Amino acid sequence: MSRILILDYGSQYTQLIARRVREARVYSEIHPPTRSIEWIRRWLPTGIILSGGPNSVYDEGVPTADPALLDVAPVLGICYGMQVIAQLEGGGVTRAGRREYGRAELEVLSESGLFSGFTRGDEITVWASHGDSVEVPPPGYAITARSANAPVAAFQHESRPIHGVQFHPEVRHTPRGDDILANFLFEICHAKPNWTTGAFIDEEIARIRQAVGTSRVICGLSGGVDSSVAAALVHRAVGEQLTCIFVDHGLLRMHEREQVERTFRSSMGIRLVTVDAADRFLAILDGVDDPEEKRRRIGHTFIDVFEEAAEELGDDVEFLVQGTLYPDVIESVSPRGGPSVTIKTHHNVGGLKPDMKFKLIEPLRELFKDEVRQVGRELGLPEEMVGRHPFPGPGLAIRILGPVTREKLDVLRKADAIYLDVIREAGLYDDIWQAFALLLPVQSVGVMGDLRTYENVVALRAVTSSDGMTADWFPFPPGVLGAMSSRIINEVDGVNRVVYDVSSKPPATIEWE
Ligand code: XMP
Repeated sequence: MSRILILDYGSQYTQLIARRVREARVYSEIHPPTRSIEWIRRWLPTGIILSGGPNSVYDEGVPTADPALLDVAPVLGICYGMQVIAQLEGGGVTRAGRREYGRAELEVLSESGLFSGFTRGDEITVWASHGDSVEVPPPGYAITARSANAPVAAFQHESRPIHGVQFHPEVRHTPRGDDILANFLFEICHAKPNWTTGAFIDEEIARIRQAVGTSRVICGLSGGVDSSVAAALVHRAVGEQLTCIFVDHGLLRMHEREQVERTFRSSMGIRLVTVDAADRFLAILDGVDDPEEKRRRIGHTFIDVFEEAAEELGDDVEFLVQGTLYPDVIESVSPRGGPSVTIKTHHNVGGLKPDMKFKLIEPLRELFKDEVRQVGRELGLPEEMVGRHPFPGPGLAIRILGPVTREKLDVLRKADAIYLDVIREAGLYDDIWQAFALLLPVQSVGVMGDLRTYENVVALRAVTSSDGMTADWFPFPPGVLGAMSSRIINEVDGVNRVVYDVSSKPPATIEWE
């Protein structure tokens, strides 16, 4: 299989490079630039991409590359990656000379290599973001594009397959960026577009079967996309050897438990144990106000309940499936993954103690969210499961501001179901990253049928996002907002006011707690 190695010099766009390569159906992985040359050779890359990065090649202790890297496979350097090539090859990088940020117009000077299919003299728009720039190409290199502020906007070696661009072909603001990347993959590296969901599933099934043998496997289902797809994949590989455990903590959305049971037990024939632990969770949440304390208690109780259920299955359970995705894996290897402030403790549901006795199976650890959805579809999971919005492990507990009670859960569950119903009817569900209702800890005055009411306020939140790290509020048409409000107030007892949250992240977060 063709495989592209991406060395991450710390650019905010590194994940995008990997995505674009995979969208072109070529497998790619991101690794730190500290990988040894022996490691890189053994990895057998079809091509290597050096990402951009925030450093200057002249600073001390900045990441660089072994000169031998340029002979392992064809290389494409992007921004900082291009400057690394220039430095290794004896070209001149100018420090903070002519900066270029944002849109830039570029003149193409070549009709081959990265610019195959382009015409010499073409003016193309690109997205640039650099302080330093290459002013003089290294010996043996030809300039293949230039712009007003970057006389060497792209270069290539005259005979070896080494290329550099001083702009970002991976972002959508570079309209012909896909063509440039495709040229690198297919014209320069001669990669084959053979990374498909079907191929991934076949390979993964073989790998799981080999690892598991005749042992038994458990999987914690949360009802979310990731654990559902992981369970379906492992089930396809080892069938009856898999048992799924679904902890109903009583903090789920309307009909969520029934949906999980129907999909997994009835439609897919997966052995499923549901643990009814609603009372236990309500008890440990009694009177708890602080969001982090809620998360801590839910997380710990979740692990206890899960481990008890796993123990009951017997001693021969050796493996545990987790729905870890690629972005979680990358965070731990990236040079950016340094210490950061904890804004919220995100418990990985099914997250485990360090002395855990199970061996882990993480069949999705190389995939992005949209690829996971694709795998789920191919495995026959229903659309209502694979296309659903993310839902936090602590569930509705962090959407009831203040202490959680059974009554408040009932009110919120109804309001949330109506809200999502209106969104679906308006055909907007798939345009939104995440939408949910919240129950605020305030009461407000209203009038219903000539009587004064003093009841709950429900807040509605809907955001667009690509990864949950940043988000913007979703602009519902006023008529849709009106329908949400009147249906919730009319149909949910105990609610007399609905408000809509128009905050972006940052500075707000997606959830309120
Ligand atoms: P925030 O609120 O931090 O949320 O902007 C970003 C994404 O993470 C989800 N989220 C959680 N997921 N456990 C989870 O499993 C948690 O404690 C948790 N808190 C937030 C949130 O729903 C959004 O998708």
